[in-house]
Amino acid sequence: MMATMQQIIVLANQKGGVGKTTTAINLAASLAAMEKRVLVVDCDPQANASSGLGIASDTGKGSIYEALFSPERITDAIYPSQLDYLDVVPSTPDLVGAELELVDRIGREFYLREALQNIGQGYEYILLDCPPSLGLVTVNALCAANALLVPLQCEYYALEGIAHLMRTYELVRKRLNPGLDFLGVVLTMFDRRNRLSTQVRNEVRNYFAGKAFETIIPRNVRLSEAPSYGKPALCYDHRSKGTQAYLALASELTRRYADAEKQNTEPVSA
Ligand SMILES: Nc1ncnc2c1ncn2[C@@H]1O[C@H](COP(=O)(O)OP(=O)(O)OP(=O)(O)O)[C@@H](O)[C@H]1O
Ligand SMILES: [Mg+2]
Repeated sequence: MMATMQQIIVLANQKGGVGKTTTAINLAASLAAMEKRVLVVDCDPQANASSGLGIASDTGKGSIYEALFSPERITDAIYPSQLDYLDVVPSTPDLVGAELELVDRIGREFYLREALQNIGQGYEYILLDCPPSLGLVTVNALCAANALLVPLQCEYYALEGIAHLMRTYELVRKRLNPGLDFLGVVLTMFDRRNRLSTQVRNEVRNYFAGKAFETIIPRNVRLSEAPSYGKPALCYDHRSKGTQAYLALASELTRRYADAEKQNTEPVSA
């Protein structure tokens, strides 16, 4: 894992409903609570991350869609959230069209990267929430990021499709973005009363070895209620198990980065 100043983390899994957006929102809020400056960029036309953070994306101020095609306009599309350290670039349903509009363009994989370069170094973490597909917008997010985080739902088919996702990651790394590291997988919607959840957890830890985060996100109703209030769980019920789990995930993540940085700066012993 590279330890650079600005971490751009892409949350991707082509499977729908595995907790990408919930993780983007609540990990971002937790990092913000730790006084890290964070930007969430909603790369999904469903715009769930935008609404979940209380941003109405039709205010005319701009969105990720405009920013893709006029990269210098991305700064107009940055909205504040309820949390001091957390800002959002929202999405709109227009973004569906971007896939087709990008297809014939030269360098079509790098539009998002170029837009993000106009944001500057003000944010320590930029989280990119992807749609449930491996289409061109997701590939743009993979090319703009330096770390891939894969949310996996604790259910029977959790690992189905993972080989495809990992192949895409390897191809992007080889041909388009050699700077993309694999940050790891985070298990979501864990139900400790369900034997299957435990089985999936063990299987995933086996498959990904050290790349699975220790922190596991439990199934927690507060996490699913909070978005309808336009709030991260932290602002809705800060004592809930869901909030606490995402705070733990954020500290595990910052610890990993701090450790990586230490390793990179320590002199190599003979
Ligand atoms: N830990 C959790 N406990 C309870 N409900 C959860 C949890 N995580 C996510 N959910 C709920 O599960 C549904 C899917 O989650 P989410 O929207 O985060 O997944 P997603 O991968 O972003 O979906 P999509 O692929 O459609 O973008 C949502 O209704 C969300 O509120
Ligand atoms: Mg989503």
